[in-house]
Amino acid sequence: MGGSAQAKEPRARDPGRLPAPGRQTDDEPVAPRTTDDVPNAVPHADGTEPGRCGEFWERRYRQTDRMWTGAPNGLLVREIESLPPTTALDLGCGEGGDALWLAGRGWRVTAVDVAPTALARAAQAARAAGVADRVTWLCQDLADGPPPGSFGLVTALFLHSPVGMPRGEVLRAAAARVAPGGTLLVVGHSGAPSWQPRETWYTRLTTPDDVLAELGGAVAGWSVDLRDVYEAPMSRPNGQVGFRVENALRLARPV
Ligand SMILES: C[S@@+](CC[C@H](N)C(=O)[O-])C[C@H]1O[C@@H](n2cnc3c(N)ncnc32)[C@H](O)[C@@H]1O
Repeated sequence: MGGSAQAKEPRARDPGRLPAPGRQTDDEPVAPRTTDDVPNAVPHADGTEPGRCGEFWERRYRQTDRMWTGAPNGLLVREIESLPPTTALDLGCGEGGDALWLAGRGWRVTAVDVAPTALARAAQAARAAGVADRVTWLCQDLADGPPPGSFGLVTALFLHSPVGMPRGEVLRAAAARVAPGGTLLVVGHSGAPSWQPRETWYTRLTTPDDVLAELGGAVAGWSVDLRDVYEAPMSRPNGQVGFRVENALRLARPV
């Protein structure tokens, strides 16, 4: 493992991504969670229910007209805007905000999500933005592995799920899709939202070192170009802005 960057203290600087006004954040289900929604789900546990992931996320997207604003994640923009566009694989693309931004900058994007409703919205937005010919939308459960191919950029932004997410396996498989000389960008949650008690958080929170450990030998010999912890603003259901602590890793595969 190359690179000498150390995890830094959280600081406010990333524009983040705000959920659509009045909509829930990804940590707050629209309706009270029941055993029907997430069977056997337990706080802070990932991957408890393989096979129910698609059902869970599809239901969540159908509960709202729009879950995200459509804007790209601020950290993606900051880290990737200086890269020359080649091919990109966006894992857990949701309604496509990041994929559309990449396509708009000339990347040829393959974007994967398990929720058909999210992908339908993304594809519609791509047509409206005139970039439909540069994005391939795939409905696929990443627990079964990523699509084949080799990509100049692979992104996993907030690829968290309370069900069906063997994140370590998914991230290691994602690393194998990065072309020599390419970039892997992994961004995730390190903290619960500022207004929500940590113990009610149901997705496993990670540090950048946790993510590096999960990636393990899959990124041996790669350089660590970013290993960061930061605060991002997040709109609350009541419209006020809170924040949450996130982590980001940017790795480069040797040529
Ligand atoms: C928290 S959202 C993040 C969406 C987007 N990357 C963003 O930053 O706004 C997580 C996304 O991952 C998708 N997802 C969760 N588990 C998945 C799986 N096993 N396979 C494919 N997509 C999955 C969900 O449908 C959801 O759209």
